[in-house]
Amino acid sequence: MSRLDSVIRRLVAQRDCLGDAMARAPGGALLEIGLGNGRTYHHLREIAPDRPIWVIDRSMNAHPDSAPDAAMYLEGDAGAMLDALFERIGRGVALAHYDLGIGVPEEDVPLRASLGQRIRRLLVPGGFLVANGAFEGMISEPLPETVTQGRYFIYRAM
Ligand SMILES: C[S@@+](CC[C@H](N)C(=O)[O-])C[C@H]1O[C@@H](n2cnc3c(N)ncnc32)[C@H](O)[C@@H]1O
Repeated sequence: MSRLDSVIRRLVAQRDCLGDAMARAPGGALLEIGLGNGRTYHHLREIAPDRPIWVIDRSMNAHPDSAPDAAMYLEGDAGAMLDALFERIGRGVALAHYDLGIGVPEEDVPLRASLGQRIRRLLVPGGFLVANGAFEGMISEPLPETVTQGRYFIYRAM
């Protein structure tokens, strides 16, 4: 498969997993971990217009149409920002989307391992983590029919 086809499938999987989880999410805020260009954040605003959306990135590189309000944006290393968010809202996130990583397992797997517990403790009971990679120690949810196993991940907090 070409890298172009792979990116297309990943983005379709991302959109469909977010839609699936959002349809079942309990009350609470959303959290985008990895703003980047802001495409996913822009989409989250569309599918959840009435929810507060927190955003984490180490630097602001979003398209102007996709930049969050300063009050909802935490700039810095993800670990420290997840801790800072927990200090502010506690267990208040209904859906977190994790989009960090560079596609290199030697770097991405340890990063996810270092952040998993910090994300988990933010999730309300029944809240979702939708992720571009696998997290240990969480309950996997079935994927939408359109998504191949291992392409995207949905977890649910107890
Ligand atoms: C793949 S991009 C996110 C794409 C984004 N979801 C979108 O739809 O445009 C990953 C982002 O994560 C940020 N990032 C990577 N590692 C990070 C870390 N350890 N802490 C904070 N931000 C990080 C990068 O700065 C980059 O903007």
